[in-house]
Amino acid sequence: MVLENRPAPTPTGRTDEPDMGTGLIATERYTSPEFAQLEWERMWTKVWLNAGPLSDIPEVGDHFVHAIGRESFIFMRTAPDEVKGFYNVCPHRGSRLRPSTGLGHAEQLQCPFHLWTFDIGGRLTDVPDRQHFVNGIPEEKQCLSGVRVETWAGWVWFNMDPGAEPLHEFLGVIPSHLDAYQLENYHVVDDYVLEWECNWKFAVDQFAEIYHLPALHPQLLEYFDHLATPLDVYDGGKHSRQLIRMGTPDPSWTDDLARRFGYDNGDELTRQQRQNLQQCGIDPDTFTGKARELPPFLARARRDWGERVGMDFSLLGDEQLVDNFHYMIFPNLTLNLTYGSFLFFRPRPHPTNPNKSYWDYQVYARTPEGAPPPRRPATVHGTARNHPELFEALEQDMAQAQIVQESYHSRGFSGILLNSEERRIRAMHHALDQYLYGPDR
Ligand code: FES
Ligand SMILES: [Fe+2]
Repeated sequence: MVLENRPAPTPTGRTDEPDMGTGLIATERYTSPEFAQLEWERMWTKVWLNAGPLSDIPEVGDHFVHAIGRESFIFMRTAPDEVKGFYNVCPHRGSRLRPSTGLGHAEQLQCPFHLWTFDIGGRLTDVPDRQHFVNGIPEEKQCLSGVRVETWAGWVWFNMDPGAEPLHEFLGVIPSHLDAYQLENYHVVDDYVLEWECNWKFAVDQFAEIYHLPALHPQLLEYFDHLATPLDVYDGGKHSRQLIRMGTPDPSWTDDLARRFGYDNGDELTRQQRQNLQQCGIDPDTFTGKARELPPFLARARRDWGERVGMDFSLLGDEQLVDNFHYMIFPNLTLNLTYGSFLFFRPRPHPTNPNKSYWDYQVYARTPEGAPPPRRPATVHGTARNHPELFEALEQDMAQAQIVQESYHSRGFSGILLNSEERRIRAMHHALDQYLYGPDR
């Protein structure tokens, strides 16, 4: 008998957390160019970072460019089972080999400045007028500068530190939690790069707590329970997760509040709940219970829908089919995992200005068994404003980011106060401090 090598189910139990203190967080961490430089030298250049999906480079010669801070990298499929990463810098006189973003396919890489040519493995193959280099070409200029690359969960990851630990060690508990999702079966169906008017860390913070949900996103109360969300910090604060209870109204969803949103009472199925049933091909009127009783019914409906369309959710528990299993992978990746699709948020530091960042927003959808992958959408580049096509809550989050970033410069603000429900933000700072000032420093 052949035993299937199935990933273990996602653990849902609580874990011990590090002592992360209780002090205010200094706003200079969000505003100071010197602090941003320290982050670059001691953190960004030492950690494993998500570069992009392997599904973007299925064929040998396919590549994509990914930028972080001032650096730009080319990630190239060099063989069916191999991906290499190169600094996007020509060793001759430093031109970029490729534009700063985008996908491409190439038989070779040719520099647009003086036409030095490299094979897809990064080796120099042609130099126009080579005889003019009378002293020869130094060995370190004979190939592109490489960067460490590993793959996990259908993504390319890279690390600028040749001495860093392997990716799996860096990721700590994360693979044991997420392998059950089989993320490699998902493909990008929406892709945005938006410039935010805030430090990259605020763009992480904004999704690390839902304490702000009743104030900033009251429209979500009919579908989120913002209080019953177990929260865990892992691996010394580096990674964290929050199990955001969805599919059921918030405890504050009283008859009065429901009436304000146009319902007869708080027990009536909400528009969002009805829509979620319709998405699984279920007539919402066949559910006769109260709004708060929907989650088990919804889990069953989604599981059955998955079976009908060829998506096996047998590795996922009922909670995972209803709730948002919300993971943060240090330093800058947030995954909102639900059923059949997930949201990917990846803020990146601006090359020079700590008051700005780039926010990569992608939606990934699972491909049913045997179906061709969906068409890869073009990347939309823009600012954090005027995106009515995105969720209303995202627009609200992006608008708030600019307000807070400005206030972090105020002489009247003494520092960031965090409660226990906001401790994933503290965890991120705690982990950051280990890189900036930890025992290795
Ligand atoms: S800088 Fe690339 S060929 Fe000269
Ligand atoms: Fe929000």
